[in-house]
Amino acid sequence: MLLLFLLFEGLCCPGENTAAPQALQSYHPAAEESLSFRMLQTSSFANHSWAHSEGSGWLGDLQTHGWDTVMGTIRFLKPWSHGNFSKQELKNLQSLFQLYFHGFIWIVQASAGQFQLEYPFEIQVLAGCRMNAPQIFLNMAYQGSDFLSFQGISWEPSPGAGIRAQNVCKVLNRYLDIKEILQSLLGHTCPRFLAGLMEAGESELKRKVKPEAWLSRGPSPGPGRLQLVCHVSGFYPKPVWVMWMRGEQEQRGTQRGDVLPNADETWYLRATLDVAAGEAAGLSCRVKHSSIEGHDLIIHWGGYSIFLILICLTVIVNLVILIVVDLRLKKQSSNKNVLSPRAPSPVFSMGANTQDTNNSRHHFCLVQVSWIKNRFLKWKTRLNQLS
Ligand SMILES: *[C@@H]1O[C@H](CO)[C@@H](O)[C@H](O)[C@H]1NC(C)=O
Ligand SMILES: *[C@@H]1O[C@H](CO)[C@@H](O)[C@H](O)[C@H]1NC(C)=O
Repeated sequence: MLLLFLLFEGLCCPGENTAAPQALQSYHPAAEESLSFRMLQTSSFANHSWAHSEGSGWLGDLQTHGWDTVMGTIRFLKPWSHGNFSKQELKNLQSLFQLYFHGFIWIVQASAGQFQLEYPFEIQVLAGCRMNAPQIFLNMAYQGSDFLSFQGISWEPSPGAGIRAQNVCKVLNRYLDIKEILQSLLGHTCPRFLAGLMEAGESELKRKVKPEAWLSRGPSPGPGRLQLVCHVSGFYPKPVWVMWMRGEQEQRGTQRGDVLPNADETWYLRATLDVAAGEAAGLSCRVKHSSIEGHDLIIHWGGYSIFLILICLTVIVNLVILIVVDLRLKKQSSNKNVLSPRAPSPVFSMGANTQDTNNSRHHFCLVQVSWIKNRFLKWKTRLNQLS
């Protein structure tokens, strides 16, 4: 038993490996880009009689609004999504969007022939404002490629979008009313709304959520080579630094994936490293994030993660309980007439109304032993898989 205990301790808790050395300069997240309010629209046109639009509103990387296509209403996704606008002001905006979504589909369907838009097609619109100049933006994509944009006073075709985009811009530029509405909506209403929204949602925007990290093996890049994968997940805000290291040395071959959204408004990132199979030992993945300023997360290849340490601790605690109970039972069976005045240990009280007899204790002890055995085997296979 003692041997097992020591074995686990050696395997799971090799000294203070997880403490961050001081040498690495502290992490400075990239200067945050100016916060924006963005409205996204995706309209799909299946044929000349069928089209569908979706809309949403975003403060930075947080979705704050949705558009209910059936009801024609704004969905407020956060308790603070109203910003500081009055009910009346929001109702007016809602009516404007109703008109816009109807009008957009009607106009596109009516002019699809004129501009040689080929069914089925998709149009995406990104519009909004940011706190810093240039303050407003409106970009439109056709079939997933940049098509045209609104540049404050005129519509401009995107480079490479071709004659079709030029023709659409020529027509759009004739409608002064549309330009005026956009200038007012994006140039005045939007920044006002953005400022109010930032104030109302401040605590959520400034929240910090710590990353979790774990390692795995990716598909083999070739014979005798390994792909090490470091997963970092659940962090907020988005800026994060992840690097494969050998001691203090950054591994240049580290490949960073895209930062992907989790469903709970946190972020996920993976960083991979291809190495020769013999060189994996001694490598570690290091994570810096504003939520853990000065306490970098370091995970060593070979599986010394917090998760594994927790597993080991569980096993160790169970073993200790087992030893203690074992000793106690031996003691009791050596002087059978003495009933223990103490209550059974909490682990055993799972059996609720257990009679305080040696028999039932033995039974529970057996259950406990086989439970620990099972667990032990499970963790062991898991450890083997990971290392
Ligand atoms: C138009 O597309 C919709 C959706 O794909 C389809 O259900 C409908 O039958 C189509 N109508 C015509 C006239 O092709
Ligand atoms: C909302 O807040 C912004 C910024 O604090 C301010 O400019 C605006 O006047 C406020 N009220 C409304 C109704 O927009």
